[in-house]
Amino acid sequence: MDYFEIDGPTPLSGDVRVAGAKNAALPLMAAALLAGGESTITNVPDLRDTRFFLDLLRELGVVGEFSAATLRLDTTGTGGALEAPYDIVRKMRASIYVLGPLLAAHGEARVSKPGGCAWGPRPVDLHMAGMKALGADVDEEHGYIVARCSGGRLSGGRFRFEPVSVGATCNVLMAAVLARGESLLENCAREPEVTQLGEALVAAGARIEGLGTRTLTVQGVDALRPLTAAVIPDRIEAGTFLAAVAVAGGRIRLSGCRMDHLQPMLGVLRDLGCEIREDGELLVAERTGPLQAVKVETQPYPGFPTDMQAQIMAAAALAEGVSFITDTIYPDRFTHVAELERLGARIELKNGTATIIGTDALQGAPVMATDLRASAALVLAGIAAHGRTEVRRVYHIDRGYEQIEKRLAALGARIRRRND
Ligand code: EPZ
Repeated sequence: MDYFEIDGPTPLSGDVRVAGAKNAALPLMAAALLAGGESTITNVPDLRDTRFFLDLLRELGVVGEFSAATLRLDTTGTGGALEAPYDIVRKMRASIYVLGPLLAAHGEARVSKPGGCAWGPRPVDLHMAGMKALGADVDEEHGYIVARCSGGRLSGGRFRFEPVSVGATCNVLMAAVLARGESLLENCAREPEVTQLGEALVAAGARIEGLGTRTLTVQGVDALRPLTAAVIPDRIEAGTFLAAVAVAGGRIRLSGCRMDHLQPMLGVLRDLGCEIREDGELLVAERTGPLQAVKVETQPYPGFPTDMQAQIMAAAALAEGVSFITDTIYPDRFTHVAELERLGARIELKNGTATIIGTDALQGAPVMATDLRASAALVLAGIAAHGRTEVRRVYHIDRGYEQIEKRLAALGARIRRRND
């Protein structure tokens, strides 16, 4: 089992390029199922999750080729298998993204219900209710979502997402674009990854109004052309590197990121004490002074992203003063707290809010990753901690960050991947 061996403290310096966004690539891969023929998706990050999703598409009859960050997905042979099996879905809940496209393109789908995740339940009721709103019969049988549309085609409908849901918005949008008639989708997620999906669908012939807003109006079409899309830069990966400078100090330059997508997190990073500025195509981030305490509340985009709260907590652990972090999206997303405390962080959890009493140094220790962003937080903390930190179960981090240890080492971090 791989683990990271990290020695600290080490300030960071150097240049790093941000990869394509995992959470944009996955729905785009699913959307390829909506069209017959070969879709081409570029700037795809090579991750456990994108590899898992490619395995799932191959199970469904897609002929897929992944090389040099380019995915070619030929769906000519799909339609025979319409099931996303448990042994794949349990490893990656985003597998549920095939529900909408299979229903829309083939009139039926069997998708295993994803389990929970490290920090608690991950319901899919909105995905199922959204398909019902488009005329599908949706039942649960032996842990599977079994959906089919009577009459062979979905029909346009009206649906409101409560709460805002990235995945359900993507899934129902993909179903609606081939439904007969008009669909009105309200309280939609506005994350850049959702907007990119919509733009790629429109480029393939879909008719969607309102992209980037909470209300999407879709006029169903009879068929789409295969997709061609270049995955947007990963704003959470970019934010993680910015948080790394906050935690460890130093100065780095990011290339390939979209400043507009980072706006929701820049305020907090600057409050922490990071200086962040654009220099042409580059984003320069520097922290030389002491870290300052922050107050953070996660919200759907364009609010502060829940996928950044663990990384910010690692910085808050070393800030002067008391910080407060509330995750309004996942109130239980705090499995990283116990592991950060092993490194010397002083954190109290109460009613979905973490109170972090800053300390002037963390001490290296063996810790265990529990989920993707928690593991990123532990790596960042390990880079700043005094002495040796071992981060175990790094398969979590490999789900969402390409070769993270090599890229952090290139920024000066003393981090190595080991295997025992
Ligand atoms: C996406 O997950 C991301 N994953 C998550 O990133 C991210 O944390 C999350 O959005 C929130 O931004 C991908 O894009 C692959 P949601 P998703 O549906 O779609 C509730 C990472 O680190 N809800 O937006 O599963 C849910 O419980 C991952 O890359 C329902 O109630 O999240 C939550 O409270 C982790 N019913 C809220 O909505 C449903 O049917 C937002 O969840 C679906 C969700």
